[in-house]
Amino acid sequence: MSTFSSTQPQAAITAVGHFLPERRLTNPDLEQMVETSDEWIQSRTGIKERRILDDDGKATAYMATQAAQELIDTHDIDPATIDLIIVATVTPDMLFPATACLVQDQIGASSAWGFDLSAACSGFLFALTNGASFIESGRAERVLVIGADTMSSITDYTDRSTCILFGDAAGAVLLEPSDTYGLQDTVHHADGAHADLLKLPAGGSRRPASHETVDAGDHYLKQDGRPVFRHAVTGMSDVCTDIMERNDLSGSDVDYLVPHQANQRIIDATANRMGLSSDKVMMNIDRYGNTTAATVPLCLYDWQHELRPGHNLVLTTFGGGLTWGASYLTWAYDGSEYAD
Ligand code: UT7
Repeated sequence: MSTFSSTQPQAAITAVGHFLPERRLTNPDLEQMVETSDEWIQSRTGIKERRILDDDGKATAYMATQAAQELIDTHDIDPATIDLIIVATVTPDMLFPATACLVQDQIGASSAWGFDLSAACSGFLFALTNGASFIESGRAERVLVIGADTMSSITDYTDRSTCILFGDAAGAVLLEPSDTYGLQDTVHHADGAHADLLKLPAGGSRRPASHETVDAGDHYLKQDGRPVFRHAVTGMSDVCTDIMERNDLSGSDVDYLVPHQANQRIIDATANRMGLSSDKVMMNIDRYGNTTAATVPLCLYDWQHELRPGHNLVLTTFGGGLTWGASYLTWAYDGSEYAD
């Protein structure tokens, strides 16, 4: 439980940036690669296309840097004033150094320290809570929270059950203290008993890279989709209704649901339980697929022009770990000033 206390400053999102690679991988493209169909993919997931980062040495740090740089440029932020950078990712450029250090150097955040946070599709939400804690405690004034994943680097494009789902992208937000708006409440969960349902089997200390792990394709993500789907529907719906009850929010009080974009059917079920109509649900899965840690900040970027001070947002994620959660925040600035 981490309900906001009135003696602390609140941690408000005061800027958003994003990056999407140019190259599109469409459902008809995938029909040429594996035995699938546009109809199956759209009806089971809601996805029409995803973005893929071209393989010319660019990786997650590049996309995270682009998202951060856009935020810095459009909101006129001096990078030397950023205190902390947290990058949520399961596809860091390297196991170490942290992607956050590469971003820190690239954007010229000369005063910042930073680290990566690994919580799969819940990474951005957990990183947001982390970053907010530094603001609320007074240990930082400006925290950059980035969700970035190059899912194409760990996707097996011969496995039709996973390769249709994922895409590459990055999204970034800036957290600053506010007397009025910001993160109000969080409910986060983890259940390692189901760790095997969604994982990258090799490349860690348990099974370091070897000829055997490469031959077995164990550097690609594996997912047992059906049980993950069941856990996601229950987990996301429960945690969203929980955070609404704790904060006395009815469906009509929530201006926007900002859900992790794994499957349109999971999002619809969650919105239904919350009593929200579809116009209150941020959804861009059709254009980008599942970009893991980037989905929530990408939604915030895409809807930024609609957001006004005081809007009530419920952010929610579900992913490998298993990990899931919801956060309730009040929006802090007039996004119409930053419309494309
Ligand atoms: O973001 C992290 C958390 N991840 C999630 O939340 C993902 C949760 N899971 C899902 O979204 C869904 O389980 C999937 C979209 C991955 C799969 O949809 P499903 O409705 O659960 O399908 P299924 O795995 O139960 O498979 C149904 C059938 C199977 O054939 P049989 O055994 O019924 O003959 C699959 O082999 O669909 C088949 N299938 C496909 N057919 C065409 C699986 N993938 C494909 C495909 N194209 N790409």
